[in-house]
Amino acid sequence: MRTVGLRPKTYLPLSEGWSRATIRGMKALIVCNWKMHPTSYKEAKLLLAATKKSLQGKRGVSVVIAPPSLYLQPFTATSKSAHVSFGAQNMHAEAQGAHTGEISAPQLKDLKVQYVIIGHAERRSQGETNEDVRAKVHAAIAANLTPILCIGERTRNASGDYFTEVREQLYHGLKDVSIPKLSKVVIAYEPIWAIGASEAMTPQDMHEMSIYIRKSLVEKYGEGHAVTILYGGSIDAENAPAMLKEGDVKGLLVGRASADRDKVTALIGAIARA
Ligand code: PGA
Repeated sequence: MRTVGLRPKTYLPLSEGWSRATIRGMKALIVCNWKMHPTSYKEAKLLLAATKKSLQGKRGVSVVIAPPSLYLQPFTATSKSAHVSFGAQNMHAEAQGAHTGEISAPQLKDLKVQYVIIGHAERRSQGETNEDVRAKVHAAIAANLTPILCIGERTRNASGDYFTEVREQLYHGLKDVSIPKLSKVVIAYEPIWAIGASEAMTPQDMHEMSIYIRKSLVEKYGEGHAVTILYGGSIDAENAPAMLKEGDVKGLLVGRASADRDKVTALIGAIARA
């Protein structure tokens, strides 16, 4: 097992992260978690159209739309765009079986869905355990889907216990994932206290957490410097640019601001380059 200091030299220096990434031509990955919105397919089509329109003539952003699962089929069948792909908000760990109300990784793959959000705080609050999350991450990788593994502490206090909570979720979710497959996993750090809240976490705190996540991966796997880390929790057009610039993240997992036509247009406008 290899241990590293807090800031190995392979990490991009604070404040240079985004500009260096941009120079290398990397795109910010924006995952639009629509949750259980909107209430009609008609509205969903309008929201998708508005999101795509906001990307027209823009560079530097690639978007994953994670709509309610019943919209995945018509969307993937009709929407062709180099900048937009689709993700599921959840899935079952089994490929098929007697699991009423569930959808599986092979079913998603069959629809040309590319991503799946796993272990979102709103699923965990419904009883999803670290073990469930681990099984789903494996099933997603086996089906060649990109798992977006959500981790994040419930609360923070001065003792710093939240780091242990995050590390436990990370290690458990990735347990037995082989080193070559590690780079296929996207880590979405979403502090639960910042989800659906009035304010996001500060980019400085996110930067610290990004370093901690990478350090934790490197300690366990000897790898993990290049893992894709997203931030999620109360992101909007105002706070997104600073988070991408200073938070040491490669993208954002967005709830409310992705499920409203005006807000998503403002968000993409604030972070994409003309
Ligand atoms: P929010 O949700 O952007 O509405 O805070 C984020 C999430 O739950 O993924």
